[in-house]
Amino acid sequence: MPILPQSALRHRPGKWGAVAIWRRHSNCNDASLRAGLVALLELPRPTGATLLVAAAPSVVGLESSWLGGPFAPRTQGQVFLQATADERAPLLVLLRAATHILGGRCDLDEELIGGKIGDGREPFGFRDSVKAPTLEERHELVGPEGVTTLLYLRFEQHLDRFGAQPVATREAAMGQRLDGDPLTVSGSHRDRFQTKKDIVRRGFPYRHCGEEGLAFVAAAAAAQPLRAAWQHFEGDPLRPFVTPLSSGFYVAPPDAAWVKTR
Ligand code: HEM
Repeated sequence: MPILPQSALRHRPGKWGAVAIWRRHSNCNDASLRAGLVALLELPRPTGATLLVAAAPSVVGLESSWLGGPFAPRTQGQVFLQATADERAPLLVLLRAATHILGGRCDLDEELIGGKIGDGREPFGFRDSVKAPTLEERHELVGPEGVTTLLYLRFEQHLDRFGAQPVATREAAMGQRLDGDPLTVSGSHRDRFQTKKDIVRRGFPYRHCGEEGLAFVAAAAAAQPLRAAWQHFEGDPLRPFVTPLSSGFYVAPPDAAWVKTR
């Protein structure tokens, strides 16, 4: 039987999204953190909600061969959570339950709540459809150790600067019309990334303290395709209009049973 990735990774992210990054207390060891991960993985999910649970590789005994990226400050957290839901209430239920489980072990380092804008647009106004991975893609998300690797990037999007560009320039940069129709432009964001089929995106737009942007979350079977995609973004036409504010690299175990074996 092939190992399937954690259940959250098999579903379409809902209308609402949240990311929470927890940093361990100095007196909290790996075993205590793993007990927290098990409790989170065993937590009942409200209907229509998902909770993706991931950790810094060292917490589950894996080597951290790639810790940082080329151009963003790295988060200092050991536990990464992504909650999604079709309503705000179940999202809050999950975040509160996570606080209950992790509160004695860790401090909350970063938390973002956001969700779809209108009919599924990102802050620059373009349609961004994040779909559930196909069955084939799900199997391809599991690496040899049984875990899925996650890349988290928190981008601020400079709406004023991007919005000051002519519509045609903005559409050409994205490779999409503002009405949602695809636009074939060589070198556009979509053109540059459409061959990157080895990563699964599950980010969401957020607004926090007056700043708007994308909580970019992507999953793959290993760090390499994520690192390559991130480096590829350096030359992207969207790059001058966004600032990466934090970044992290985590591993998502398939289930609680896997964590108990570590
Ligand atoms: C704030 C920064 C970003 C914005 C606003 C953004 C926006 C978008 C939008 C609107 C789409 C089109 C989705 C659709 O057609 O439904 C897209 C596609 C995509 N983006 Fe980004 N993106 C950002 C950063 C990134 C980064 C950093 C990566 C990789 C590390 C990335 C990888 C991709 C990929 C793989 C696709 C799918 C392309 C395809 O299959 O056609 N994006 N992005």
